[in-house]
Amino acid sequence: MPITTESPTSPATAEPSATDGAPSAAADTVQIRPPRPGEGAEMWRLARDGGELDLNSSYAYLVLAEDFASTCRVAVSGAEVVGFLLGYQPPERTSSVFVWQVAVRGDQRGRRLARRMLDDLVDGLPGVHTLEATVTEDNTASRRLFASFARSRGAELTWSAGLLAEAFPDGQDAEPRLHISPLTRS
Ligand SMILES: CC(C)(COP(=O)(O)OP(=O)(O)OC[C@H]1O[C@@H](n2cnc3c(N)ncnc32)[C@H](O)[C@@H]1OP(=O)(O)O)[C@@H](O)C(=O)NCCC(=O)NCCS
Repeated sequence: MPITTESPTSPATAEPSATDGAPSAAADTVQIRPPRPGEGAEMWRLARDGGELDLNSSYAYLVLAEDFASTCRVAVSGAEVVGFLLGYQPPERTSSVFVWQVAVRGDQRGRRLARRMLDDLVDGLPGVHTLEATVTEDNTASRRLFASFARSRGAELTWSAGLLAEAFPDGQDAEPRLHISPLTRS
């Protein structure tokens, strides 16, 4: 499947959100697509306001949104960015995509937006056979997300050492690396 377009009516990019019966943003469709130049600012705000992620500089989100758009995604409800995924293809492992950060705004969680961003990312990268990420031991939501994604693709999820705690100069927790492979596409 090609990288998604911006059509809000494309079934690949916009699905009805789960509804609670209320005529609110919850009933809107949420579109998944690569970010546009400038949307790095909204990605940075989401990361900052969520408070769970390591906040990178606003510059980093802007550059990734502009120069790495094909390996990043945003989830857009109305005009608002309510989720984002930052990724890149390691130059030495071009059949892999590394997911650096994925986040969904608190009021939109549990609606499969993170799963949809992973699916859209992988479907837009036909030459990619492995998805990688690092996840701390205590990030249950993230571990479940990647496990769910692996299951849905019929892929194996394995772990390697990743970034050891002692590698960090600022006392961060270890970040074991997960590998999901082989990736199949519908
Ligand atoms: C992790 C995160 C992106 C998940 O987003 P989400 O849109 O709510 O996830 P989804 O609805 O797509 O759920 C996908 C799977 O993960 C599971 N999951 C998601 N959040 C979960 C939680 N808090 N506890 C347990 N399982 C969870 C879902 O049950 C689902 O699994 P299933 O298919 O087996 O039912 C979101 O919780 C978040 O933004 N967290 C803060 C940032 C973060 O920690 N990011 C990851 C590290 S970069």
